[in-house]
Amino acid sequence: MKNNNIDIFLKQPRRGKTREAQLTPHKLRRSAVWGVARKATAAVWGGATVILILALLLASCRDRVEPPTPYDIPIPKGFPTILNIPADNPMTVEGVELGRLLFHDPHLCGYTGTEPDSLMSCATCHRQECNFDIGADNPRFPDGKARGRTTGKPTIHNVMPLMNLVFNHEGYLWNGLVSNENPNANQRTIEDIVRMAIIADDELCSTETRTVAAIKADSKYPPLFKKAFGTEEITMERIQKAIAQYVRSLVATNSKFDRYLQGLEQLTPQELHGYVLFTTEEGADCFHCHGSSGSPLFTTNLFYNNGLDAVPSDAHDRVSVTGDPHDCGAYRAPSLRNVTISAPYMHDGRFKTLDEVLEFYNAEVQNSPTISPLMHHVNDGGVRLTPNEIADLKAFLETLTDD
Ligand code: HEC
Ligand code: HEC
Repeated sequence: MKNNNIDIFLKQPRRGKTREAQLTPHKLRRSAVWGVARKATAAVWGGATVILILALLLASCRDRVEPPTPYDIPIPKGFPTILNIPADNPMTVEGVELGRLLFHDPHLCGYTGTEPDSLMSCATCHRQECNFDIGADNPRFPDGKARGRTTGKPTIHNVMPLMNLVFNHEGYLWNGLVSNENPNANQRTIEDIVRMAIIADDELCSTETRTVAAIKADSKYPPLFKKAFGTEEITMERIQKAIAQYVRSLVATNSKFDRYLQGLEQLTPQELHGYVLFTTEEGADCFHCHGSSGSPLFTTNLFYNNGLDAVPSDAHDRVSVTGDPHDCGAYRAPSLRNVTISAPYMHDGRFKTLDEVLEFYNAEVQNSPTISPLMHHVNDGGVRLTPNEIADLKAFLETLTDD
C-alpha cells in the first residue's frame, strides 16, 4: 500500500515536465495564465498528497506489529547444546510470557465460573515451588495422587517434574510415549502433551472448544497473542505453542553443585564423600543412569528397570511403547536435579521421602528377569551402604537443588 502511493507521487512531476518542454513560445505565452492557475492547483494537490502520505505512514507505524524477541536459553558448560525445539515453534520472550500466564490460568480447563473445585490449571499438578511436580503437600491432592478435574479419576502415573525438558531427546512421560519417533503425529512434542493434558479425563477434563472459548473470554489475552504470534487470533494451536515454549524455558542449571564445578563454591567433606559414593560402582553406583559432572542433566533420559518389583504389573511401562518384553518394568530415569523438592518419588509415587528412596536402593532392590544389568548390587538386595554413607549420599543429592 504505502510503496504504491510513493511511486505515483514520484512519477507525476516527471510526466508534467516532459509535456511543458514540447510547447512552442507562442503557446507558452497563451498558457502562462493557465500555468499560474495550474501551479496553484498543483501546490494544493501536492500539499494534500504530502499530508495524505504522512497520515498513511503514521497509521502504518501504529499498526505495525513488532516481531517477537527471540528467547535464548542459557546453556551452561557441559550441558547438551542441541535443544528439542520444533522448527515451527521457535521460542520468543513474548511466547514464553504468554505461556506462563496460560499454564497458571485456572480457566485453561474451559470452566469460566468461580467454583474453586471446578477450576484447574497445569500448575494444579505442576507446582513451581515443587520443581513443577505435585509436591508432598499439594492443597488439592494432599495424598500426592493427582486426579481428573471433574471425574476424580486418578492419573495412571505419578506427576513428573517439568525441568530441563528442552534437553531431552529420548521421549517424554514416564514410558517415553511422546517422542519424535512416535508414528502418531499427535504424540511427538510438548505441544502435543499440552493438548493431551487439556482434554484428558484424568487431568483438565476439557475440550478444545471449551478451552479456547474460556481463554477468548478474558480480554487480557488478545493483545498478548498478538505480541507472541502477530495477530490477536486465539486458537488451540497457539495455546499449545505458547505453553510448550514456557515449559521449554524451565531449566535448572544453578545448584550448589554447579557452582562447585565452576570453582565458585566449595562442597563440604560430607557432600564430597557423597559425590564419590554416587559416582563409584563399589559405592552407591547411581551415576550410570543418573549422570554426574560429565553428564550434568543428572539423568541419561533413558529407560531402565531399577528393581522396584519382582513382578512388575503396570500395563503402561516402557513395553507399552516399544512392544519389547525386555522393557518390562522399565521407566525413564528421572533427573536428580531438585530431587529434594520433587516428592513423591517413582512412576507410582510409592516413596514419600528421599530417605525411603535411599533405603530402597540400599537394601530392597528386587531381582527379576528384566532388571537392568546396571543394577550391579541386586544379588545383595542393594548397595549396602552404612548409615553414615547414606547420610553423605543424601547430603550430596541436596547440593543438586537450584536456588
Ligand atoms: C491432574 C494433574 C495434572 C495436570 C493438571 C497436568 N499434568 Fe502434566 N503430568 C501429569 C502426570 C500424572 C504426568 C506423568 C504422566 C505419565 O507419564 O503417565 C504428567 C507429565 C507431564 C509432562 C511430561 C514431562 C516429562 O518429563 O516427560 C509434561 C510436559 C506435562 N505433564 C505438561 C503439562 C501441562 C502443560 C499441563 C497443562 C496443560 C499439565 N501437564 C497438566 C499430571 C498433570
Ligand atoms: C539402572 C539405572 C538406575 C540406577 C543405577 C539408579 N537409578 Fe534411580 N531411577 C532409575 C529409574 C528408571 C527410576 C524411575 C523408576 C520408576 O519410577 O519406576 C529411578 C528413580 C529414582 C528416584 C526418584 C526420582 C523421582 O523424581 O521420582 C531417585 C531419587 C533415584 N532414582 C535415585 C537414585 C540413586 C540415589 C541411585 C544410586 C543409589 C540410583 N537412583 C540408581 C534408574 C536408576
